[in-house]
Amino acid sequence: MRHLLTTAGLPRKTVTALLDTAEALKQSLLGREVRKLPTLRGRTVVTLFYESSTRTRASFEIAGKWMSADVVNISAGGSAVAKGESLRDTALTLTAMGADCVVLRHPASGAAHRLAGWVPAHVINAGDGTHQHPTQALLDAATLRERLGDLNGRTVTIIGDVLHSRVARSNIELLITLGARIRLVAPPTLLPRDVAHWGNALASTSGDWPVTVSHDLDAALPGSDAVMMLRVQTERMHGEFFPSAREYAISYGLTEARLGLLPEHAVVLHPGPMLRGMEIAYSVADSPRAAITEQVRNGVHVRMAVLYHLLAGRDDQTPGEEV
Ligand code: NCD
Repeated sequence: MRHLLTTAGLPRKTVTALLDTAEALKQSLLGREVRKLPTLRGRTVVTLFYESSTRTRASFEIAGKWMSADVVNISAGGSAVAKGESLRDTALTLTAMGADCVVLRHPASGAAHRLAGWVPAHVINAGDGTHQHPTQALLDAATLRERLGDLNGRTVTIIGDVLHSRVARSNIELLITLGARIRLVAPPTLLPRDVAHWGNALASTSGDWPVTVSHDLDAALPGSDAVMMLRVQTERMHGEFFPSAREYAISYGLTEARLGLLPEHAVVLHPGPMLRGMEIAYSVADSPRAAITEQVRNGVHVRMAVLYHLLAGRDDQTPGEEV
């Protein structure tokens, strides 16, 4: 694997290898006082963020540091980007200084793909517009696997602003690869127009399209093994997509009462940042059925696994074995 740009077309074997590596890393670091592996010593990772981030950026930085890479963080706001420098020139500048890997977050869909064609470094897509966020989907899958085991045949209900969500797109592709079935639940205004056709290619090969679409959350919850809440992406909205936050919460918020409609074993996920009281009730976000902090914790191990597979290029070994 040279870059990680999308979950579309990522072979099941690769996904399983990444998740297994992340799990092995988690186990090997558990209870260690000194969390430092020598695996990426001498390698330089640059995080280049044109959009705000807490989790993704910090976890890439921690992941790199725990594997002894040198990590440099660049925010568009505080860099020459603010003086008008292009993405290409910024990235070429960083690779000229020796960046082995560029982790890019950018508001334009497709930005990471463009970057991968310009620079000699490995590129990781840390979110491009409304398009893809592959490491988020991987950490979601790692969290679901921990709680539910094999995801084959499991039903995951994705709720909220599907239209603007790169998290939803990456998850749909990855969960289908892992054999899960997906229910998308959203107001009609927050569903992509062609969503019902996304699976046509799949359906024609397997005779089965594992995604259903509805606007009725209460009907979708029973029988769901997991629910994945999405943030309402107001920064990508031009115009009104629903009447008010209160009405959104009434129809699509995960309330205590709705938690009761889910099977006992069902897991609640949210990629963060959460809008408590609107997308998810305070008590639901803090309930033991929510795996939101586990998602964040697994994010570090999953990003370590991705950096390892890209930079150390060993698919047959687990980092730590060489220690
Ligand atoms: C997501 C993102 O930025 O795409 N957050 C994240 O990476 N944890 C989801 C969001 O911002 O809504």
